[in-house]
Formats: sequence, C-alpha cells, structure tokens
Amino acid sequence: MANVPALYRPGSTLNIRTSKLYHVTVVVEKVFTPFTTSQVLVVRVISPLPTHPSLLNSPEECPWTLDKEVAAVEHLKVHPDCWYCDDVDYEVNDEVHMCRRASDSWTREVDAYHILANSSLSGSTVPIFYESGDLILDETRAIIPRVILLEYIPDVTSVSSLGDIGVITPWHVRTLVATAVRFNKLGVVHWDINRGNVLIGAKRAVIIDFGESTSQIQDYIKKFSDNDWGGQVDESQDPMAVERMVTQPDPTTASRLADADNFQSNRATTCRLSNGYVYQNHSHLSTQQA
Ligand SMILES: Nc1ncnc2c1ncn2[C@@H]1O[C@H](COP(=O)(O)OP(=O)(O)O)[C@@H](O)[C@H]1O
Ligand SMILES: [Mg+2]
Repeated sequence: MANVPALYRPGSTLNIRTSKLYHVTVVVEKVFTPFTTSQVLVVRVISPLPTHPSLLNSPEECPWTLDKEVAAVEHLKVHPDCWYCDDVDYEVNDEVHMCRRASDSWTREVDAYHILANSSLSGSTVPIFYESGDLILDETRAIIPRVILLEYIPDVTSVSSLGDIGVITPWHVRTLVATAVRFNKLGVVHWDINRGNVLIGAKRAVIIDFGESTSQIQDYIKKFSDNDWGGQVDESQDPMAVERMVTQPDPTTASRLADADNFQSNRATTCRLSNGYVYQNHSHLSTQQA
C-alpha cells in the first residue's frame, strides 16, 4: 500500500467526467495491487445518487422481476400514458419505463419495416423483414414480449466496432447516404443514426435499428400530410448524420484518448491504434454500486 499514490487509496474521492459528459463522484473502497498497465479500483458512487439514469439503466442495478413487471402493468392500467411517475417505488418506475420503451420501440420498428419491406432497400441496405409477432412463453408474464424476425446479415461489422474507418469505401458512403435519402422519401425518419446502427461488410452497407423511427404511415393510417412529413425529414437530418458516422472518427473515443493522454503523459508508453490515433497508456476504474 505504501507504493499506492494517495489518490488511489481507500477513502480517496475521485471526480470522473464520463463519456456522456456527466460528472460522477466516487470514493475508493478497494485497490488491486500491484498496478501494471492500469489502476483497478472498487469504488462506491457518491453522486449523482443511483437514481441517475445512466446508473439506473444498467441491468445489474435494476434486474427484472415478475413482481415489478406486474406492479408496472397495474400502474399502466391506471396511467396508460405514463413513462415515469413520482407516486410509485423507483424500481417499479423503472419497470414502467422499460415496458413502455419496449412496446414503443417495437411499434416504431414494425411501422418502419412495413414501409421498407416493400422497397428495393429491403435485403440490400436494410435487412429483409419477415414477420412481427408475440413471444409465446410457458411462464406467466404481465406483458407480452414482442418479436421482430429480420434477415441476419453475416460478415458485417458495425462502424462502432470497426476500429478502422479506413475500410469504409466511397461506395459504402454513397450507398448509405442514398439509403437515408430514400427511406426519408418513402416515409421513414430514423432519428437514431449512430455508429452501432450502421453495418459495413465487403459487399454490404446496411442501416438497422428503427426503434426510434417515425413513419408517415403508422398502423396503416397516414399520420403526416406530405407537407408535415417534409418538416420531419428536415428536422431529422438522417442523411447528414449517416455521412458523419461513416466519414468521421468516433469523437467519444477521440476525447477518451485525449484524456488518457493528459492524465498519464509523464509515465506512459506511446501506442498507435489501428484507426491512426496515437495515445499513451490508459487508466480505467471498475465501478461497483455498494
Ligand atoms: N440484421 C442484423 N444482422 C447482423 N447483425 C445485426 C443485425 N441486427 C443487429 N445486429 C447487430 O446487433 C447490434 C445491435 O442491434 P440494434 O438493432 O442496433 O439493437 P439496439 O436497439 O440494442 O441498439 C448491432 O450493432 C449489430 O452488431
Ligand atoms: Mg442500435
């Protein structure tokens, strides 16, 4: 312990700026020595308190139980439009949120695929849509888990997992941007274009995950006039977002690496990543909610 800097000893308070630009304050509970390339600590989160969404939403913090699901569904019977409510226990509240989100995402994705499945994008730059349905279970559930059956696309990698965006060719970029323009015209705005939702392969460029999308036709009813639809398309900026994701390196990786560089500049070894970044030895913390 004598060799451990005071900053990392039990009882030390650390302030962390997370990738989402939040601040989290933690206190060191335990330190794993010897330090090698990183410093591994067990820490207790002090603030924000564990109701903070990014902490609350992690599966370990809020495991599913049937009791909570039943309570959430009872609550939703009385307050069908509720996403979060102050008058229920926070764990039930979280389940209310998850139930709403699951059903909302499924509905959005099914509406989008009903439009996309009839277009030439299907099976090329968006997965083939086979069916949507309900999961039949032997066990008792308070909700019906919904299912979407889609084409599995082998030999593709999401841009977020690629490491090297140098493998993305001008053909991929053109194809993906044209896809976003096209689905906007067909009556779908994606709203959630991120690097995890763009898949790249030698012969395929694919956009997935329409769980946050808006469709001009929903449940077979036209919900937006053509004029209003133009407003949705302009606001979403899907094609611009696609272009950005496939032509610019992930800024969160870049800023994380810059932080690591500053933090350890006095004792680090230089590394070059496959995507061209140069950075110095990194540090990480294991967090544990006590
Ligand atoms: N049709 C598919 N073919 C191949 N991989 C897929 C397909 N759909 C999803 N994936 C993989 O699963 C990951 C998560 O899928 P996604 O639909 O974006 O779920 P989430 O809602 O969790 O973001 C994607 O980044 C991709 O790696
Ligand atoms: Mg996704």
